[in-house]
Amino acid sequence: DCDAFDISEELGFLLEDPLTYLPDYFQVWMDLANNLTHLIESRTLRDLVHKMPVLSPHLLSNHRELRLAHLALGFISMGYVWQEGQHAPAESLPKALALPYWVISRRLGLPPILTYADSVLANWKLRDPTGDMEIGNMDLIFSFPGGESCRGFFIVSLLVEMAAGAGITGALEVMHARKTSNITGIHKGLVKVAESLKKMNETFKLMHEHVDPTVFHGTLRIFVSGWRDNPMLPRGLLYEGVSNEPILLSGGSAAQSSAIQCFDALLSIHHEDDAGTFLTRMRDYMPPAHRQLIETLAVLPPLRDFILSCSSSDLCQTYNSCVSALVDLRSYHLSTVTKYIVVPGNKARTTGCPLSGVGIALNTTGTGGSSLMVFLKSVRNSTQKALILER
Ligand code: HEM
Ligand code: ALA
Repeated sequence: DCDAFDISEELGFLLEDPLTYLPDYFQVWMDLANNLTHLIESRTLRDLVHKMPVLSPHLLSNHRELRLAHLALGFISMGYVWQEGQHAPAESLPKALALPYWVISRRLGLPPILTYADSVLANWKLRDPTGDMEIGNMDLIFSFPGGESCRGFFIVSLLVEMAAGAGITGALEVMHARKTSNITGIHKGLVKVAESLKKMNETFKLMHEHVDPTVFHGTLRIFVSGWRDNPMLPRGLLYEGVSNEPILLSGGSAAQSSAIQCFDALLSIHHEDDAGTFLTRMRDYMPPAHRQLIETLAVLPPLRDFILSCSSSDLCQTYNSCVSALVDLRSYHLSTVTKYIVVPGNKARTTGCPLSGVGIALNTTGTGGSSLMVFLKSVRNSTQKALILER
């Protein structure tokens, strides 16, 4: 199962042991991506991209090489588009960037924009390779401006995702146990899911120690913004050498994480109208094997109905503990969004400082393009509704 869905027993959806080097032929890409922060801050990235040769991606031979190339081209593209800030985004990507990016994206089944699967799942390395995967021993492969807040934002997201790994294993166990209506097996799997959701919530708290709201909002956020549902680039982005029309693609967001959508699917939690549509669309931004697990879980007969029908109060309580932990995680997430987006966004509006970051352009829209607070509250409330009330 883990193989079929490209999941690691230990790390869940994280890419195991990401490569940090490509074959020499691709050195131009790696040189730009490795120096990205400096090239953006000195406003020299665009000029260097204009001098880039059009490389052929055919020398990339395996999944990890393709993921690293997709990550590198994603970072370079975001830097290229947003180098001059919110008022002067690039409206097209030069062919030397757009064409190989397009081909590599097709091979991976990912869109040609920086996704969560790139910036979080595939963008990590250990400082001391013999040491543990804890925040003090982890680095990004590529970074945007924002220093420790940039590292913290992506690495804390990664650690939360890693904490989901045990829960995904639990979800697979539940799926198997259901084939034989093995109540003990279902129960054991759900206990793992609940434990894992609690661990995710604990891990999430690290965000506050490592990410500064002003830096997140004023410096980092623009670089994960995309070109769909974004007032800064309303018509999308032209990929030169690929298409004659601009293309609309959403920016990076943890809404593209497969873990939470797997838990929703497992627990038969359904999201309403716009929120549901948005979350389903975000699956297009996930690696196909991961998307496949969500879809496999979503077409099983609803677990919640099964639990209602078998009137085991133990099972019912454990199911509820999963749903409660997911409600708690979503409530905690909402308060984080207030601190990192709403408060700094209001400050930007009242001080009218037009030059920094996303300014007020994304005050009510997430980088993924959702209507932020409305969306997140709807998703939290529909989670709450799945709780099975005592009869
Ligand atoms: C969605 C912000 C960290 C998980 C969203 C959205 C925003 C947002 C604005 C709405 C979708 C969009 O349009 O982009 C933030 C901020 C964070 C943060 C400011 C930290 C400073 C995290 C972390 C996780 C996470 C660490 C890991 C669990 C999600 C999920 C969604 C989402 C799963 C989709 C909605 C849902 O299923 O509840 N986030 N996020 N976020 N975020 Fe975060
Ligand atoms: N999705 C997060 C935001 O909107 C990163 O800022």
